[in-house]
Amino acid sequence: MTEAEAQKEIEKLTDELNHHNHLYYVKAQPVISDYDFDQLLEKLKKLEEQFPKFASPNSPTKRVGGDITKIFPTVKHKYPMLSLSNSYSTEDIVDWETRLKKLADGDIEYVCELKYDGVAIGITYVNGELFRAVTRGDGEEGEDITPNVRTIKSVPLKLTGTGYPQEFEIRGEIILPRSSFDKMNAEREAAGEPLYANPRNTAAGTLKNQDSAVVASRGLDSFLYGFYSDKNTFKTHYESVIACGGWGFKIPDEKKNYLKKCATIDEIIGFINYWDEERKKLGFEIDGIVIKVNSYLQQQDLGFTSKSPRWAIAYKFKAETVSTLVESIAYQVGRTGAITPVANLKPVLLAGTTVKRASLHN
Ligand code: IVH
Repeated sequence: MTEAEAQKEIEKLTDELNHHNHLYYVKAQPVISDYDFDQLLEKLKKLEEQFPKFASPNSPTKRVGGDITKIFPTVKHKYPMLSLSNSYSTEDIVDWETRLKKLADGDIEYVCELKYDGVAIGITYVNGELFRAVTRGDGEEGEDITPNVRTIKSVPLKLTGTGYPQEFEIRGEIILPRSSFDKMNAEREAAGEPLYANPRNTAAGTLKNQDSAVVASRGLDSFLYGFYSDKNTFKTHYESVIACGGWGFKIPDEKKNYLKKCATIDEIIGFINYWDEERKKLGFEIDGIVIKVNSYLQQQDLGFTSKSPRWAIAYKFKAETVSTLVESIAYQVGRTGAITPVANLKPVLLAGTTVKRASLHN
């Protein structure tokens, strides 16, 4: 095989694998078997070994990880990563909406979204390829965890479609689905190790693992919902999110009611109440609802307070609580010799999972 032929074949296999990866992890509609996918991947891996100069850092072969990072470099955010002001009652939301009506010009349209309980991430794309992924950190600067984020299958390494700016940042949340979390804890239980506390902390810890192959094995997922660019030609938040979906990102699914345009406060409250009940059935955890003003022009007019935008608010669900009986207490000895007391509970359903044991470390 000549170099030119190898280059062409590598490009073809890369596109094919990216396409099937997208169908499987973003669309949940695979069209080839896992076996056929692995065959293609193996073929690409061999070619890249034979012709290393054509192996891109964004090759689908990088999804399995392998890079070791001892220290994650600190990076200053181009656009500060702010937080949202929180509210705990629907009255707060009514007050907020009433305030906005006085402050903004004309009718306001809102977008309601789930508040994903994960780790905030900002991913920069340059010329349609993943360039860098940075954690929120203190909002001004975060940590560069690019090799680890490359292993998350629903994060595109190369974009599809057209119309994206030469450089832009997409923001969203990296989450650990309940199924992945339960699997990890089952393995820890079998090994006699203390259990992980919750999916969010476990996702955060996983993202900071020095070994990207470990990250690849954990089953992290993403929901991306924020578009930032010096060349932002979109008029609304909604439009930008839908366009991001067209470029290959896993965006909140409107058909599943993960995202909804609302014109009235009643529709907003309806969305909150729907998810307060339905969230237990989701395969991942959410801790509230986020309500955003849709128009970028109105967002600009409303501006920011010292630490959060006026044009958005988070409604936080009350944490679910249940009562049960402590049947016994066991003392677990970890690999390092550390002892953790663990309560054996009368099994009880909490936030979609059956809880049988609880670490008593704190
Ligand atoms: S918008 C300007 N939308 O909640 C703020 N945030 O304090 C832009 N979060 O750390 C954030 N789901 O990571 C937004 N649908 C959603 C969200 C969301 C979860 C997190 C976000 C941030 C925190 C807000």
